[in-house]
This record gives sequence, C-alpha cells and structure tokens, in this order.
Amino acid sequence: MMKTQTSSLADKVAIVTGAGNGIGRAIAQAMADAGAKIVLCDVLVADGEQATHEIREAGGDAVFARGDVSREEEAREMVDAAVRTFGGVDILVNNAGTGGEPARIHEVNVADFDRVIAVNVRGTFLCSKFAIPHLLRRGKGCIVNIASTYGLIGAPKAGAYCASKGAIINLTRQLAIDYGPDQIRVNAICPGYIDTGLRRRRASLSQAELAAAITRRERAARMQPLGRQAQPAEVASVALFLCSAGASFMTGAIVAVDGGCVTTFNYGEAPN
Ligand SMILES: NC(=O)c1ccc[n+]([C@@H]2O[C@H](COP(=O)([O-])OP(=O)(O)OC[C@H]3O[C@@H](n4cnc5c(N)ncnc54)[C@H](O)[C@@H]3O)[C@@H](O)[C@H]2O)c1
Repeated sequence: MMKTQTSSLADKVAIVTGAGNGIGRAIAQAMADAGAKIVLCDVLVADGEQATHEIREAGGDAVFARGDVSREEEAREMVDAAVRTFGGVDILVNNAGTGGEPARIHEVNVADFDRVIAVNVRGTFLCSKFAIPHLLRRGKGCIVNIASTYGLIGAPKAGAYCASKGAIINLTRQLAIDYGPDQIRVNAICPGYIDTGLRRRRASLSQAELAAAITRRERAARMQPLGRQAQPAEVASVALFLCSAGASFMTGAIVAVDGGCVTTFNYGEAPN
C-alpha cells in the first residue's frame, strides 16, 4: 500500500500573499510549521513583519516582502525576492483580497469596483504569472487561490466582490487545465464566515455600524449547518492539505470551507 506523509512541506518554498493578517497569516504559520520556507507578502509592513517575526520565533524560516499584488512591478519583485532568498518557488497562495463598500451596483463607486477587481483578480493573475515560470523550472508545484462562498452564490450589495471571487474560481479551473501537464496543481478554497477581525478591516465604520455589522455576521454564521464562524487556522489546514502529498491527484478543485453554508437553502432561521 502506498504510504503518504500528508502534511510535510519540508524544503518547499511558499509565497503567501496577504500574509500579514487573518487567513493568510494562518496559512503562512501552518506551512512554516510543516517545514516550508515562507515568503510573506503584504502591503502592511508592520503586520507583515510581525507575522514573519512570529514564525521565526517559533523556529520557522521566513522573510517578509512588502508589495501590492495588484501592481505589476511589486508582484514581480515579491516573486523575485523568494527566488533570491530561497532559490526558487514551489507553492503560491493567492490570498490577498479585499471587499468593496456595500452598495447595489448602480450606486457602486467606479473606483471602488476597479480596486476590488484589481486586488482580487489582477493580483491573482500577476502573482501567478510571475511565479509559474519558477514552478515550471521545478517540474511541479502548487497554487492555492483563496476565493469565497461569495464566488459560488450571490450576496446582497457585494457586486464587485462576488464578480471577483467568481473570476478567481474559474481562473483556477483554467490554470488547472493549462498547467496540469506540467504537474502544477491549482485549487481554490471558498471560505465562508471566518473570524478575521472585521473590526480592523472596517475601520471606516462608526461604532454603531460596526456593532451592527458584527451582529449581522454572527447571526448569518449561526444559520449555517455548523452554526458558527471559523477560525483562520481551519482554512489554513485545508490550504496545507491541498499543497501536500495527500492531495496529489487534486487539481481544479473548488473546495468550500464554509460550515456547510452553500449546501443548504436558508429559511432565515438557525437550524436549532
Ligand atoms: N474572512 C472571511 O470571512 C473570508 C471569507 C471568504 C473569503 N475570504 C478571503 O480570504 C482572503 C483573506 O481574507 P481575511 O479575512 O484574512 O482578510 P484580512 O483583511 O484579515 O487580511 C488580508 C490581508 O491582505 C492584505 N492585502 C490586502 N490587499 C493587498 C494587496 N493589494 N497586496 C498585498 N496584500 C494585500 C491586507 O493588508 C491584510 O493583511 C481574502 O481573499 C478574502 O476575500 C475571507
């Protein structure tokens, strides 16, 4: 019987974008714990450096590369930093993402729409474009794109975000086709409600608006089969699996990590 070590990433080099906070930070930590050398990318220098420091303190090998994934030269430079520091790239996690201001599409600010598409879609494209030549050089590799349940279904007042995550999902399938023959596996994760600090991300909201947003989110999470939000580590463990030997025959898969959210029609009541 074939024996696989399902979670070892020893000697692999992984780039994780948006690694300064939330899900990206948890993925960087999980992959470092599994033995990978990590390049943490983020636009926020203090957050990225702190996350990098924590990995090193725990005995991991990690560097921080500041960059905005939506900018061509910065995306290229983040990948180059990985190659300069660790000699190549085996894994790319396209996690950096942003939401738009809540509005119906006729009220959406054009610049806000463009910003969401630029970070979520263009960023995924640019980082993939610059990392893939290095994966090809290795003769194999993995890409994990962090999409969203909002890419699988619609959601109120989230046009740009839903469109961007839907694009990431189908780009994942498309990349799986183009690079399968090169042994590069490309999969996507669709997180549901993950508790990653709405407080910080919605700094523009008043105290009352923020409290209402948090209450709404918690109520929505209660209405799903598992009845709660998840911790970032519960997404990170799936990203780690998708890059491990245990997932060696998975590519083009769209994996919901959502507490069952998209499996069920919601009657507007918690199940119990
Ligand atoms: N939290 C959730 O409930 C949830 C649900 C579904 C999908 N997601 C997706 O998961 C990913 C991570 O979300 P999160 O909740 O951890 O968010 P977060 O805001 O906690 O962290 C995102 C990180 O990405 C960084 N970032 C943003 N734009 C960037 C850019 N242009 N270049 C480089 N870095 C950038 C931010 O500075 C931040 O550190 C996103 O793609 C998000 O859309 C999150």
